[in-house]
Amino acid sequence: MAQRSLLNISGKNDVRQRLQVLRQEINLHAHRYYVLDDPILADAEYDRLFQELVALEQQHPELITPDSPSQRVGGAVLAQFATVPHTVPMLSLENAFAAEELVDFEERLFRFLQNRAPIAYVTEPKLDGLAVELVYENGLFTLGSTRGDGLVGEEITQNLKTIPAIPLRLLNQDRETPKRLEVRGEVFIGLAEFRILNEERGKAGEPLFANPRNAAAGSLRQLDPKITATRPLDLYVYGVSDPTALPCTTQHELLKHLGSLGFKVNPLVHLCRSIAEAIKQFALLQSQRSALAYDIDGMVVKVNDFALQERLGAKARSPRWAIAAKFPASQATTRLVAVEFGVGRTGAITPVAILEPVQVGGVTVHRATLHNEDELRRKGLMLGDTVLVQRAGDVIPEVVKPVIENRTGQEQPIIMPTTCPECSQPLVRAGQEAITRCPNPDCPAQRVRGLIHFTGKSGMDIEGLGKKAVEQLVTQGLIQDIPDIYQLKVESLAALDGWGDKSAENAVRAIEASRTPTLAKFLAALGIRHVGEVTAQLLARHFSSLARLLLAGEADFLQIEGIGEQVATSLVDYFQDPAVQEMLARLEVLGIRVQEEKPDANAQGGLAGSVFLFTGSLARLSRHEAKSRIKELGGQVASGISRKVTHVVLGDSPGSKLTKALELGLAVISEDEFLRLIGR
Ligand code: IVH
Repeated sequence: MAQRSLLNISGKNDVRQRLQVLRQEINLHAHRYYVLDDPILADAEYDRLFQELVALEQQHPELITPDSPSQRVGGAVLAQFATVPHTVPMLSLENAFAAEELVDFEERLFRFLQNRAPIAYVTEPKLDGLAVELVYENGLFTLGSTRGDGLVGEEITQNLKTIPAIPLRLLNQDRETPKRLEVRGEVFIGLAEFRILNEERGKAGEPLFANPRNAAAGSLRQLDPKITATRPLDLYVYGVSDPTALPCTTQHELLKHLGSLGFKVNPLVHLCRSIAEAIKQFALLQSQRSALAYDIDGMVVKVNDFALQERLGAKARSPRWAIAAKFPASQATTRLVAVEFGVGRTGAITPVAILEPVQVGGVTVHRATLHNEDELRRKGLMLGDTVLVQRAGDVIPEVVKPVIENRTGQEQPIIMPTTCPECSQPLVRAGQEAITRCPNPDCPAQRVRGLIHFTGKSGMDIEGLGKKAVEQLVTQGLIQDIPDIYQLKVESLAALDGWGDKSAENAVRAIEASRTPTLAKFLAALGIRHVGEVTAQLLARHFSSLARLLLAGEADFLQIEGIGEQVATSLVDYFQDPAVQEMLARLEVLGIRVQEEKPDANAQGGLAGSVFLFTGSLARLSRHEAKSRIKELGGQVASGISRKVTHVVLGDSPGSKLTKALELGLAVISEDEFLRLIGR
């Protein structure tokens, strides 16, 4: 479809018009989807519009505008962030920890105003994320920054552009929309998205984020916006730097107005006629908290009327007209009894705090992850410390900090092991990595975890071979590696403690059923470092068969969109390992048949691994034909010049791409040579 409309459009003005229509339509539907949560267009239809836009822009890069939805994918990598002074300081809020403190808050207002006239308030959920400022000039998003110290923030425009909830251009602009508008809000990651993100990281052997807030902060402060673009960031706006800039006289009107400009405003905001009503809202919000899709740590109460706000003014760091009512934290103190060091599937050594059991938010906590050595050092923990433990937003329990005042002098330093606690190999810590690893691929702990991963849900999903069963089979010497699983016999399983004929038969049947996995499933099950389910899918789609994948080198992996150097190196290391090659050979002998990925016509793949770029016009076939032929043959077509391009096809009157190609030393071929390559 996209290509058909491409062919219909000839003149530059047509293209410009079509681009404008596409951008408007895409923006409209993105707003309905991401901001209003009320889509009216099927996903596939939206994708089609988007593809058409990208295709047209690729043909006419000079017509790309900064507010084009295609510009959300992430721009150039930065060496460091620039700083941006805020024209109006970004203040923080004073806290209230109980309902009475809200009454005190109102009393202070009455005193300051020297009258007791009723005051209306707006209550807003207080999201636990990161405050940002978004600057719009003539309706266009031009500058985005973090709060920083409140006076000066870090410039993160490109990263913010990747967040779909942020409009790149204001909607419904009119004469009253100021030339420059500074909007403020909170960037966050939802709880479900956070879990998925961490799961993916865990599978890929990457360090986990401690909580959604850290994940959001880490994602926003990426020097490479392409990484930010892959993170599920979201945003609610709650104010502007200068409320007189817009035609609103109250906070409640302002929030509505921001909504009409295309921003996402939290639906749980409430207009209250009195502080008593605000207190009721606080109780209500607290009861809703655990059902929300994101983490909140309290409720902000703001004086509704801007004229009143103005009269109340601000103290050094916080306005007088607002206060944050905080929820009681699910925190408790207990004693750090010991630190154990676990060995993960990829050899990562994870310190785990062993705690004197304590109730936190209704759950007994015995242990809490300390993530990695850096985290442990940063917290400055010692054995025997009294520690503050919390469960943030019902996520995994964590040790917040030691209670230094409780130290007796008897506390002992925590010593990181220098050898693997399971196999005694010296541990290694590579370059910038926060993770210490056991480098021994034969480490029994890694082997067991690798086997558990292989049979588990994210692997081959073999019913009856869960964590406990695998551990038992390894301890009993029945399995040592993956091929052993396929040699298990009903009799030997049935003879084990806790097993019977039935469960043994079922397990063997489930093992049999897993003999013909899809390529994606098989790759994910192998537990290759940095290769989770998503990457496995990418690989399967690209190579179609295991045999073809085994022939690939680093350069071939790097050509796949979504695969970077780290993953490519990891793949090469893995498949070049003689032990892995032997294992794959044994699986083959045992009759494991990894299925070819069927639907892809790329399967013939004569051009698999080749990336073509065209410059100038072709004489004997259209670009469209050329491109579809390349794709049929398993090759790729690049939109711009880069080192990934393997063939630059030279047409009539080539453009600047040719000069660049020559500078980069890329192979340039004639149209005739190209035709021969594609078999015409
Ligand atoms: S108003 C001058 N509203 O809380 C008003 N802040 O301690 C200052 N926050 O830095 C901010 N949700 O990161 C406001 N609905 C909300 C908020 C909110 C979260 C955060 C924000 C700010 C911090 C203030």
